[in-house]
Amino acid sequence: MQFIERAELKKKPERGTELGFGRYFTDYMFTMRYTRGQGWHDARIEPNVPQSFDLATGIFHYAQGVFEGIKAFRREHGVAVFRPDENWARMNRSADRMCIPAFPTDVVEEGLGELLRIERDWIPTEAGTALYIRPVIVSTHPMLGVHASPEYLFFILLSPVGSYYAHGFAPTKLLVEDVYARAVPGGTGEAKCLGNYAASMKAGALAEAQGFDQTLWLDATEKKYVEEVGSMNIFFVIDGEVITPALVGSILPGITRKSCLQILRERGYRVSERRISIEEVAQAAREGQLDEMFGTGTAAVVSPVGLFRYRGVDYTPKNATGEITTKLYREITGVQCGSIPDTRGWIKLYE
Ligand code: COI
Repeated sequence: MQFIERAELKKKPERGTELGFGRYFTDYMFTMRYTRGQGWHDARIEPNVPQSFDLATGIFHYAQGVFEGIKAFRREHGVAVFRPDENWARMNRSADRMCIPAFPTDVVEEGLGELLRIERDWIPTEAGTALYIRPVIVSTHPMLGVHASPEYLFFILLSPVGSYYAHGFAPTKLLVEDVYARAVPGGTGEAKCLGNYAASMKAGALAEAQGFDQTLWLDATEKKYVEEVGSMNIFFVIDGEVITPALVGSILPGITRKSCLQILRERGYRVSERRISIEEVAQAAREGQLDEMFGTGTAAVVSPVGLFRYRGVDYTPKNATGEITTKLYREITGVQCGSIPDTRGWIKLYE
């Protein structure tokens, strides 16, 4: 694979720096281009430096683009990446929904491996930190007609990160949104496309202004059933049963969600993926049956939820950070960091 070296390397954040989420980016990136008639081509590793684009470029106008979030961890011999095959498969499904041509996963995997080997020293090792991998595809053809672009850029950025929430593994506060909608049936809710996140920002900002961490979204049609949170899938533990909304087409099929479901089923918990109304959750909280509540995501890992507000009333689970939440957090981060053996083949090691 072609490698273009940069003249000068960036200064890495000092050990112990508060990394936050997505504030620092490494020296290099992987890129690959698509041209109609030629397919994907010119995969390479090049300096991660500002790029210039014609302002008529499709992505600036109609947001024809998709992305992923993956985490990597430094090991004594190599770099451990958590379930990347799941991300590539989901990214190609998202691409298909956005009318973007499928990319060859073997080329991207090879490129990521190269990139990780070059950028290994950027990977933080303190507890709760990781290297966040952000693959993106954007349309690059300058045109204003509303049609699929004949050209795309695939790129992977790397960012050393700490916890997604400034308060770390501590209970989050969610505001149930019953005016705005995130995704509609038949829409793009289950694709990880750029516009979904843009459409969520207004409600997110209103929630933050009232002291909440994120929005808890309801279904768009009846504003009755719980769907997901701004950057996480959501789980409830009601009277010993672990419930998460079923993937009905408007919910992101999270990889941490899938991993948690597998762990819970293996451990013999009563688990269900089904439609769950916000009223059912509120009722359970009123009756003291809402044992715990948590969100899952690549960036958020497993985050406890300590409170949600619905129509002006605050509800709290019995445990702000419950036992199941803590167990799942420990198991997922343990497998990622290597302190718990990877018996399920979730880790891909790049040596
Ligand atoms: C992730 O968890 O990786 C996400 O993509 C969510 C968010 C940071 C947009």
